[in-house]
Amino acid sequence: MSDPVSYSGPERILSGMQPTGGLHLGNYLGALVNWVALQDRGAECFYCVVDLHAITMPHDPKSLPDAVRRAAAAYIASGVDPEKSAVFAQSAVPEHAELAWVFQCVARLGWLERMTQFKDKAGKDKERASVGLFTYPVLQAADILVYKATHVPVGEDQKQHLELSRDIAARFMRDFNCDGVFPLPEPVIQGAGTRIMSLKDGSKKMSKSDLSDLSRINLSDDAETIARKVKKAKTDPEPLPESVEGLTGRPEAANLVGIYAALEGSTTETVIAEFGGQGFGVFKPKLSELAVAKLAPVADEYSRLMDDPAELDRILSNGADRARAVAAPVMKEVRQIIGYWG
Ligand code: TRP
Repeated sequence: MSDPVSYSGPERILSGMQPTGGLHLGNYLGALVNWVALQDRGAECFYCVVDLHAITMPHDPKSLPDAVRRAAAAYIASGVDPEKSAVFAQSAVPEHAELAWVFQCVARLGWLERMTQFKDKAGKDKERASVGLFTYPVLQAADILVYKATHVPVGEDQKQHLELSRDIAARFMRDFNCDGVFPLPEPVIQGAGTRIMSLKDGSKKMSKSDLSDLSRINLSDDAETIARKVKKAKTDPEPLPESVEGLTGRPEAANLVGIYAALEGSTTETVIAEFGGQGFGVFKPKLSELAVAKLAPVADEYSRLMDDPAELDRILSNGADRARAVAAPVMKEVRQIIGYWG
């Protein structure tokens, strides 16, 4: 239903991650590297920590502020420059929630019932899920459109939510006869390394919620920990194949090769050309060396930032001011379109 519309505003980037209390290699290679590339290309970028989304599932109010700081520190340690990009907490910009309400009256129940992430997160007992978890993608649409963002760097798993954002924007413009008010935001799907899998099971995504810490490399891990996790990563008994096709059906091998390529900024082909035919006894130490070289500076910067929460709070508050300066006029325009007083 996303009809082409005439949108002529500037190119803007928005993305966000949940404050899960610590980010890992999957977030870094799957998202943050891309955020930084978009920023360095000169686009106007808004990178928020989605702490409104964080309360759709049970959460601990005591640890939330620190979790938000950790996420922001990880963004910055990865190369997001708070002088260039607005780095802020979603809850500090009330326009997100306000626009989300309007969009809840635009989105249709049937659209949300098709969202697969809700089905995954709600599990078997969906009657007990919060209503917020159900309307989560509507808030996500508001996050994006309250800045009239045109491009949204996300993982493959967020494509459906982006489609919903376009449907909401298109339906809003059709219902209220205001073509061109919103862009139809496009996902920018990350290239190599989008799907970083668990180091213990090549068929599962690397995840903060995995019980085994050995399954992931955290952005806060020091060099020794990184090396130990690579060493203990699951593999199979075969040497690396001579061609990329040979990785089919070998999820752990494919994952480690993918991680190497993403860290190096090269491709699976290049890595296979270099290591094809070699055993993991050769490949793992190389991977470990590369991972330490790339991630240790990120980890150092992360801990430096986490040692100065006052400085992080200042950055977040600055970011929120900048974000609000864009979001408030958009919300004002929406209020006029829907006929609110004042
Ligand atoms: N739903 C996203 C995720 O699970 C997080 C998110 C919330 C987001 N709002 C967003 C991503 C807006 C991009 C744009 O990863």
